[in-house]
Amino acid sequence: MTITRQACVLMDGADPLRAFRDRFTLPDGVIYLDGNSLGALPKATPARMREVVEHEWGEGLIRSWNTCGWIDAQLRVGEKIGRLIGARPGETLVADSTSLNLFKLLAAALKLRPGRKTILSEAANFPTDLYIAEGLIGLLGQGHRLLAVAADDVSAAIDDDTAVVMLTHVNYRTGRMWDMRQITQLAQQRGALMLWDLAHSAGAMPLQLAALDVDLAVGCGYKYLNGGPGAPAFLYVAERLQGAAAVPLSGWFGHADPFAFEQTYRPAAGIARAAAGTPPLLSLAALEVGVDVMLDAAMDEVRRKSLAQTSLFARLIEQDDFEIVSPGADDMRGSQVCLRHAGAWPIMQALIARGVIGDFRAPDILRFGFAPLYIGYTDAWDAAAALRSVMASGCWRDARYQSRSTVT
Ligand SMILES: Cc1ncc(COP(=O)(O)O)c(C=O)c1O
Repeated sequence: MTITRQACVLMDGADPLRAFRDRFTLPDGVIYLDGNSLGALPKATPARMREVVEHEWGEGLIRSWNTCGWIDAQLRVGEKIGRLIGARPGETLVADSTSLNLFKLLAAALKLRPGRKTILSEAANFPTDLYIAEGLIGLLGQGHRLLAVAADDVSAAIDDDTAVVMLTHVNYRTGRMWDMRQITQLAQQRGALMLWDLAHSAGAMPLQLAALDVDLAVGCGYKYLNGGPGAPAFLYVAERLQGAAAVPLSGWFGHADPFAFEQTYRPAAGIARAAAGTPPLLSLAALEVGVDVMLDAAMDEVRRKSLAQTSLFARLIEQDDFEIVSPGADDMRGSQVCLRHAGAWPIMQALIARGVIGDFRAPDILRFGFAPLYIGYTDAWDAAAALRSVMASGCWRDARYQSRSTVT
């Protein structure tokens, strides 16, 4: 059955999340299908940034660490993200970048499983996850290894040498989603720890880290949490592991009493020990605004809309033009639709020139992320129509779309 644009307009009219669109600034004439790379700007962010810069920094100066809640911001915003990912209070902290948090938690995991030498991951994981594991192993020099296998071989590869299984819940290039419950249980039954990278899931779907008894997790602030470019990341450590988990970056912000200026490191109690140095307060303030918007939305509704949008978009794609690499099954798909084509780069450039912004992932993937708070069903329809027109006209073959930028 063909889906008409009018049907999409009606779906938008009945959408319980529709009002959230007005809480974001998006340029006219743009359909933004890249909120899984860099989330859109919440309308409340510029005023909050002005307040932090002009009032809290400009007037409060150093006093604002105490008077404006700066010193607690990592924990405070961490608690809020914890609610989005189904963590218990005291299990989530905003800190550093996702890469650094991976380093910290992988190191802690290896220490918690001293007899085991393997970090197991998926070969198609986001590269920073694999790079960080490589770097850590090199630094430790204790004979650890990174075993990165095909997704379908991960389960069978978990054995009594596996210290930690490190996976990205939703694959960045395909949108394929792991069964978090199943893999977490399997890893734990075989004595390993489970570390999830939630970069493409936090803020896109409900998560139940505590209910699934997940050991460790990290995630990004600048994607579905709409924290702004370079927003700080978050990490999660299950309460039951916090006492024993040693974080290798033993900076003063993770000290039990930073302002005692003791000569030796004494870790703070709880998740606070996972902090290292002074957090970027301006970015943290922007992140808090994005997270607050997200907290107003019912995550079940977000997921329901995301699945409806991704399946709608996939149905509107001309099957002869592309291989659809995202899974068709709802329980295996994140909030993105990924298409394979040898001309993926110029096709995406031609599409961007028409106001539809998605991204390209080397070597041959067009990626369309659906952020249900600000993307409508009509947007999905219009984006698919623009893509069909780019393909039908062949305009993507034009020389101006061929040259590669540094950031794709
Ligand atoms: C799965 C995943 N992990 C990590 C990152 C990035 O980590 P960082 O914030 O350290 O740049 C990304 C970025 O797109 C990602 O997709």
